[in-house]
Amino acid sequence: MQAAVPPPLRLGVNLDHIATIRQARHTPYPDLMQAVRLAEASGADSITLHLREDRRHIQDDDVFGIKPRLTRPLNLEMAATEGMQAIALQLVPEACCIVPERREELTTEGGLEAAGQLVRLREFVQPLNDAGIEVSLFIEPDLRQLEAAVAIGAPVVELHTGAYANARDGAERSRLAEALFSAARSGHEMGLAINAGHGLDYDNVRPVAAHPLFHELNIGHSIVARALFTGLPEAVSHMRSIMDAARHGRRP
Ligand code: PXP
Repeated sequence: MQAAVPPPLRLGVNLDHIATIRQARHTPYPDLMQAVRLAEASGADSITLHLREDRRHIQDDDVFGIKPRLTRPLNLEMAATEGMQAIALQLVPEACCIVPERREELTTEGGLEAAGQLVRLREFVQPLNDAGIEVSLFIEPDLRQLEAAVAIGAPVVELHTGAYANARDGAERSRLAEALFSAARSGHEMGLAINAGHGLDYDNVRPVAAHPLFHELNIGHSIVARALFTGLPEAVSHMRSIMDAARHGRRP
């Protein structure tokens, strides 16, 4: 009997920090579209851009300029505000990930408190669903938040891997990995598709990538940081090969 083939694992490459470098000086370089092309050619299954309220990296012109030129789906990360909803409905990305946002934070710090705003988020998500955008909610690996995602009508959740990535030691990391896997199982049983992301890097990605219930991992900072030394094609394809090897039980 042949062993069951695990489902493929998608890599969403987040390119926000290419724009961070550009915005530091308001120069035309580095060219975000060139980064998109290289990421697409090197194994990205989707391109993720976070249009933050404070526009600290990605700009409106980026998303509208890049969307028609993509050969992979666009995953637009955004806060649940009226303004962002209007942009998403005009842009119609293939996917939209709803994240919490605080202006003073360094990066997205916690998951969305979906359970505490069921009605508001259901109303927010409905027009996006109607426009054919696949909506995901960025949540902590927590049963309450998974149930909320179902009640809100989001077909996908992205589990926040930040706590796992920042674990102090191996024991804490194993415990937090188990919490992610348990949430992935519960979400899967509820009919949700399960993505994960935040803080994943070349050292900590393997256990998450090996777990067969994850559909897509969204990774940005570690890839762009590595690209400074190796170039973006190597940084993306190296992450891709680690993820694929982990999913198929091989060493890369
Ligand atoms: N997923 C979400 C929802 C995020 O907000 C971010 C950071 O923008 C990422 C994934 C990527 O995280 P990192 O840059 O740490 O890989």
